[in-house]
Amino acid sequence: MATEEHKYLADVIKTTHATLREEAQNYGPEIAWKRHVTRKDVLQKYASSMQKLATTYWLENNLNTKHTTLCRVEWIKSQCEEYFLNGGIQKYDDKEENIKTKINADIVENENSIYCNSYIRNVEDLIQKITLLDVGSCYNPFGTLNIFEVTAIDLNGVPEKVLHCDFLNAQTGKEQILLVDKQQLLQLPEKAYNVVVFSLFLEYLPCPKQRYTCCKKAYNLLQYGGILFIISPDSKHVGANARLMKSWRYVLSKLGFMRIKYEKLRHIHCMIFRKSIYKQVAIRWANMQTLPENDPLYQDDTAIYIPQDFRNISSNNKHQEKEETKKEAMTCMFHELPFEEP
Ligand SMILES: C[S@@+](CC[C@H](N)C(=O)[O-])C[C@H]1O[C@@H](n2cnc3c(N)ncnc32)[C@H](O)[C@@H]1O
Repeated sequence: MATEEHKYLADVIKTTHATLREEAQNYGPEIAWKRHVTRKDVLQKYASSMQKLATTYWLENNLNTKHTTLCRVEWIKSQCEEYFLNGGIQKYDDKEENIKTKINADIVENENSIYCNSYIRNVEDLIQKITLLDVGSCYNPFGTLNIFEVTAIDLNGVPEKVLHCDFLNAQTGKEQILLVDKQQLLQLPEKAYNVVVFSLFLEYLPCPKQRYTCCKKAYNLLQYGGILFIISPDSKHVGANARLMKSWRYVLSKLGFMRIKYEKLRHIHCMIFRKSIYKQVAIRWANMQTLPENDPLYQDDTAIYIPQDFRNISSNNKHQEKEETKKEAMTCMFHELPFEEP
């Protein structure tokens, strides 16, 4: 049974998402977003509720189930070890070279690029840590893992642990620029990171174009061969949203990302997208797909959809959602977040 505190925290999260989504429908996503980021009290309450939920209730929930699954942070860490320390990066370099030869691509684009080194041999030999940008970090869950050099950013995360930065509107450039008090990031460095993490982040944004903008920005910030993790909440079975997941892969391929891993854990989709050394190699996958005719998911190459985009939020629905939250036993992890809602 969910405790009163659990219900309260879930309600904070749900109400924040519902209000943002409703305002995006009423006033358009840009105005809604501008309003949203000025509500510091709401953002602060969201961050502390999220931290408590993630570090207490979701952990307990996971331990109480028969098949304890890896949590998202552990999953990302183990995949990074596999990729950077155990030969994963070379495997995909070779794969790209093979495909490039097959398609006879004329590659000139990356002459001055920074390439993601595979210099790291094992954790003890770590000369340089894996640079990781955690977007929508909230409470910096990667901060204690010493294989990473973490830059944790959030609209308004837990103070001292996370830098302020609206990723959607953040500038990118040659170098990182911090505000004098060092608590706010004004500019993020391009082609700088080995890893970018979007953990339970994309669903927060109320509009498909905003989600795409963030993926494109992640692309620009990664080194070639660097990887983007997308963790998305969904407690349904693997096939339930397979169509949607395929459309994400399609849009990201067109951007220059190869999907190199997909795993459905009990409550989350876990995906890794590699910034291809050769863009044409990534795009090739998208070009090989036969797309369903008139499918709204494929009408626009610059939009990333989630189930909520196809639902209308009327005040009736909103009321119903609230009532469901109150009644629910909350055995389902992440049910507080968009994508998950019934
Ligand atoms: C559901 S929480 C996920 C927290 C954490 N990543 C995790 O996996 O537990 C989503 C977070 O994304 C942050 N966020 C949403 N939009 C953002 C943006 N444009 N820039 C930075 N952070 C953002 C929110 O403030 C919130 O803390």
